[in-house]
Amino acid sequence: MVKVEDFKTCNDSRFCKLHRQFADSATKASKADPQYYVKKDSVAFADNVLSARIVNSQKNIDLSLTATFLEQQIVRLRIQEAEPIKPRYQGCGEHVLKNGEAGLLNSSFSDYNLSIKNSTDGLTTHVLHFGKNSQNHDFTLLLTEKPWSLSILQNDKPTIEVNSLGYFNFENVKTHDSVSSVSPSNKISDATENTPLADNSTQTNTDVKHDETFKSWTDSVPNGPQSFGIDISFPGSSNLYGIPEHASTLSLKTTRGAKEHYSEPYRLYNLDVFEYLEDSPMALYGSVPLILSHSSQHTVGLFSMNSAETWVDITKNQPSNILNLLNKVVNRSNSASFSSSHWITESGVLDMFLIPGPTPKEVFSQYASLTGTTDLPREFALGYHQCRWNYLDQDDVLSVNQKFEEHRIPYDVIWLDIEHTDSKKYYTWDYKKFPDPVFMQNELAKHGRNLVNVVDPHIKTDPGYSISKTAAQNNHFIKNKNGKDFKGWCWPGDSNWVDYFNPESLQWVSEQYSFKNYHNTTSNLFIWNDMNEPAIFNGPEITMEKDIVHHGGIEHRDVHNIYGMLVQKSTFEGLSNRENPPKRPFVLSRAYFAGTQRYGAIWTGDNTADWNHLQVSIPMVLTNCLTGINFNGADVGGFFGNPSSELLTRWYQLGIWYPFFRAHAHIDTKRREPWLLGEPYVSHIRDAIQLRYRFLPYWYTLFYENKQTGMPIARPLWVEFPENSNFYETTTQFMVGSALMISPVLSEGDVVTQQIKLPSQESYYEFDTDYSVPGPETLTMQTPIDKQVIFAVGGNIIPTKDRPRRSSKLMKNDPYTINVFTSMRGEAKGSLYIDDGETFDYKKGAYIYREFSFTNATLYSKDATPKEHIDSDSQKAFIETIKDIRVERVVISKMYNSFTKAIITENGVQREVEVTCTSKNKTKCVIRDPAVLISNDWSIQLVF
Ligand code: GLC
Repeated sequence: MVKVEDFKTCNDSRFCKLHRQFADSATKASKADPQYYVKKDSVAFADNVLSARIVNSQKNIDLSLTATFLEQQIVRLRIQEAEPIKPRYQGCGEHVLKNGEAGLLNSSFSDYNLSIKNSTDGLTTHVLHFGKNSQNHDFTLLLTEKPWSLSILQNDKPTIEVNSLGYFNFENVKTHDSVSSVSPSNKISDATENTPLADNSTQTNTDVKHDETFKSWTDSVPNGPQSFGIDISFPGSSNLYGIPEHASTLSLKTTRGAKEHYSEPYRLYNLDVFEYLEDSPMALYGSVPLILSHSSQHTVGLFSMNSAETWVDITKNQPSNILNLLNKVVNRSNSASFSSSHWITESGVLDMFLIPGPTPKEVFSQYASLTGTTDLPREFALGYHQCRWNYLDQDDVLSVNQKFEEHRIPYDVIWLDIEHTDSKKYYTWDYKKFPDPVFMQNELAKHGRNLVNVVDPHIKTDPGYSISKTAAQNNHFIKNKNGKDFKGWCWPGDSNWVDYFNPESLQWVSEQYSFKNYHNTTSNLFIWNDMNEPAIFNGPEITMEKDIVHHGGIEHRDVHNIYGMLVQKSTFEGLSNRENPPKRPFVLSRAYFAGTQRYGAIWTGDNTADWNHLQVSIPMVLTNCLTGINFNGADVGGFFGNPSSELLTRWYQLGIWYPFFRAHAHIDTKRREPWLLGEPYVSHIRDAIQLRYRFLPYWYTLFYENKQTGMPIARPLWVEFPENSNFYETTTQFMVGSALMISPVLSEGDVVTQQIKLPSQESYYEFDTDYSVPGPETLTMQTPIDKQVIFAVGGNIIPTKDRPRRSSKLMKNDPYTINVFTSMRGEAKGSLYIDDGETFDYKKGAYIYREFSFTNATLYSKDATPKEHIDSDSQKAFIETIKDIRVERVVISKMYNSFTKAIITENGVQREVEVTCTSKNKTKCVIRDPAVLISNDWSIQLVF
């Protein structure tokens, strides 16, 4: 069980408690009497930036507010001291934004106009129209002066509101020389009760400290309190999503207000939480400060680009006097639902991107324009990964490998955990256990398989360990407060941590992955970065002290949530550069932040082998996908404990639908490789894994499309059926792409029946059976242990490779099956992306992207490669390598007619082939071996 007392609650955190209290007093205030307001005559608009000063005259606070208008109608809101005595950390964008700060593109809309409206209540509102989107939606920004609030309107309806509940509260940065004497005690409770809500920063008192103590640790808070809180609300919405990582529901639960579900806010602070709870807002290993709001009217988002500790309270329909006042200026219906988030952040700049949607698709594309999309993975990485802590030695690895052969279970990667090293010194091997690592890797490579080694970011303190020695000599380690190398405990005992905020150190670590430096590694070895929150066993909350200062004077407090991402980035660069020409890396990380998607995969950490953890893995994985972290999955089987055969089988059946599919287990658990379960389980697990492999072309295409558009790979139903409010909270069913609806079995009891809901008025086809049914409908289906229900949604075409093989590499030249699932109107669409699966040549155009369509009983395959930025020679050269790969089957599932033959047209030549309509009602027709080429344009016309 998790030791909750190891981790802070909001009450244990001075700033969290402070802002919650402020929110309470703002809610209770009998009239809207704002402490903060827009300074008279301070509002201006120039060069794409709206600016204003926010002041709090009682507390002598003077803040600069800017709203910058970016492409796709994104508005960036920044608030910080107008004249700071010490600038806040400004470096987040360099790490988080896909092309850094310089890469952000301003809106090209030129027809801005700023006007002032005065309402009868004395409310002064600045109105700025800032553009139209492709559907001609008008975007307007309103800034009211006193109380201050900022709203984004679409077609005159508010969709995002800032400070409409009046929770905005800001603490000026101080130094020890400039703090006021308001907080004489170092006890959190006193500090919270005695500190005014934001204090005066101009007095000086050199004796005052703002130390904050938690258990045995004292944080010296050298710059004094500098937190801020702000409410962001979503009129018309009752469902909010995002802000991973939490083991919780998809639709966020309320944490305050009349009907609160959690008493604690959702916390964003990367932490190693031992045996985490399956229903809790506690912080976990990763953080993405992106919240989404969805209703049948619109989808919008808010991204807070800040890597400091953050707590987020969720309320619904919270009453507020300011809100009532604002109703006079915005056209909001009082009865509509209203969801709010209260963001409480310890330090750094208030830097928020208001993401206007209004459709799910646009929200994902807007967010992708900021932090980027998933780097196209190595194709093998979409296969099955077999991990355990630990495969004992070389013989163990090779015998597991052999067993996969014997049992005809496909897999692509076997993993080595920390015990493969010489005394937890990463980048080394324990040669007693692994006498010939190169031989071992080559044996795996024979069947196209790969190895992943763990490399954690703590470096064993040992002058005899060359990595430790060189890092110490060259100042690569993080320093403690006394200027010495910071030391803590992790797996190896005493350890040091590399300062990834020093670009030279990041580069130095990345070089350790070269074949020259990392001995006995080959090009089929990849890396797993674990414990990179960073986990420090003897640190506060099992992590690093916040007042540690990184290279460049950056306080850890400001960047805690970014540290893990930089570890993964360094590995990503190291693996990319170890070969010439470079090959795509594969790096798994445990810690993550907004932007991590550019460097590899993550997993949901140390879950438990029970049914609750199986269930919660779905909202966890989907939430990651919604916030850009698509390449993710949960440990299949559960890390802690021993799953029953039934649970493990069900977990495999679900796990094949995680974008990242890996089984893993704790060192103390019983061995559980699939064959150890015996029959019938091993066959069911084999079937499940083989199904994953059949769909690899579809998965790979989804990754490509995610890269282009930001569309989530695994999706909650609301993304596909945005208007159907019955599914806004559903996680017992979910989508993979737009074509597949998965309804996994999530509870115990051998043969169970399952209720399945078909959300739309469309045909639904059970994959691999003849069963089809029109939706919307609620079905009760039998789901014995060998079965999970997978529906293809009518209107989609899915490419598969149906020949069972031992690894993805061995499938490379296999022919395709094209599965057509016609809509109620008899039509369908789909796509297929193919490249070499391992190099970066696709960036030059060495790939094909095909679009399939089915209309008027004819299936077409057309080239859909975007022609810009394509070097046609590269594309031609690539096509040459796949020119013989053909389509071996077309399966058309339809609802009504039956066909006997088809006419194929390819390269201007026509030929006739037989069509067999097999099923009982002749609703499934198969064309065996149409022999059309996958890289060609062709059509197949069905004839009665
Ligand atoms: C951490 C990881 C786990 C790994 C273990 C040993 O607990 O989350 O996956 O097996 O460390 O390295």
